[in-house]
Amino acid sequence: MSREGRKLLDRLAGEDVSAGRTLALSVSLRQEYPPELVAAALTQQALRASARAKFSLADEMLFTRAGLEQASSELTARHAAARFAGARLVADLCCGIGGNLVSLAESAGDRAIPPSLRARADGDGVVVGVDIDLTSLEFARHNVAVCAPGALVGLVLADVTRISLRGFDAVFIDPARRDDRGRLPSGHYRPPLGWCLGLADVVGRVCIKAAPGLRREVVPAGWETEFVAVGRELKEALLWSPPLAGGGATTRATVLPAGDTLAAPAADKPLPTARAAPRTCPACSPPSLRCP
Ligand SMILES: C[S@@+](CC[C@H](N)C(=O)[O-])C[C@H]1O[C@@H](n2cnc3c(N)ncnc32)[C@H](O)[C@@H]1O
Repeated sequence: MSREGRKLLDRLAGEDVSAGRTLALSVSLRQEYPPELVAAALTQQALRASARAKFSLADEMLFTRAGLEQASSELTARHAAARFAGARLVADLCCGIGGNLVSLAESAGDRAIPPSLRARADGDGVVVGVDIDLTSLEFARHNVAVCAPGALVGLVLADVTRISLRGFDAVFIDPARRDDRGRLPSGHYRPPLGWCLGLADVVGRVCIKAAPGLRREVVPAGWETEFVAVGRELKEALLWSPPLAGGGATTRATVLPAGDTLAAPAADKPLPTARAAPRTCPACSPPSLRCP
């Protein structure tokens, strides 16, 4: 961000940028700043205001509209990151603007981790965020500096399907689940769910964030599916590979912020689920009955 842009954003801090107020603000700011900069800063200020529902430091963070919509909230991201405590080198694949990255970085540097689980002599782990979108990565860098200052975080601009994960001991992946036309079925996530599940063959400890409406049959045996709700609102399904599955559970329901959790152990019969009628996937070309 340019020095001028930063100055303008600082000036807008705390400003009401609701529709009724924006026009007057815009007219007055354009006397001092270029119109494109004013428009970008007003948009950023509006995004920060919306982001307060997800992040306690939203007013200092940077967002793209799509990045904010898709970002995990601080509450759900911290919950997911807790199972990575003690990991030495974690990859956050498809890190976006850093919703999960920030929490993974916080937990990697958590001095409360028992010494026996600490991977590095100084007690800190390293997290590497990877995304294909440069603006998202730049904003993720800024957001980590704001929310987890001093954390050991690397950022890589790349297609996650084309990088080597040698040396990593854990992976979190939050594939894109929407495009311009709406929600994507899991076989069309970017990258597709099948590819994400295959990461467990390479790294072992894997967590995949998926839509809560995911069809259970697509989750392999030995994985735990954790449905995470905030209050009464179901937010996401986290798929934990066997080494990260908690106590052999196959299915778990967790309610935040209290963290109350109910798990069905592997030995139990699977929870009954409604059998979905076969349907063709509209995203497949030609339409397919077999797409997950
Ligand atoms: C659901 S968002 C991630 C949100 C993030 N976990 C957060 O909490 O802020 C998905 C991200 O995947 C990225 N993406 C999609 N396909 C990718 C690929 N093949 N390689 C790298 N990044 C990809 C998109 O650019 C987008 O930022």
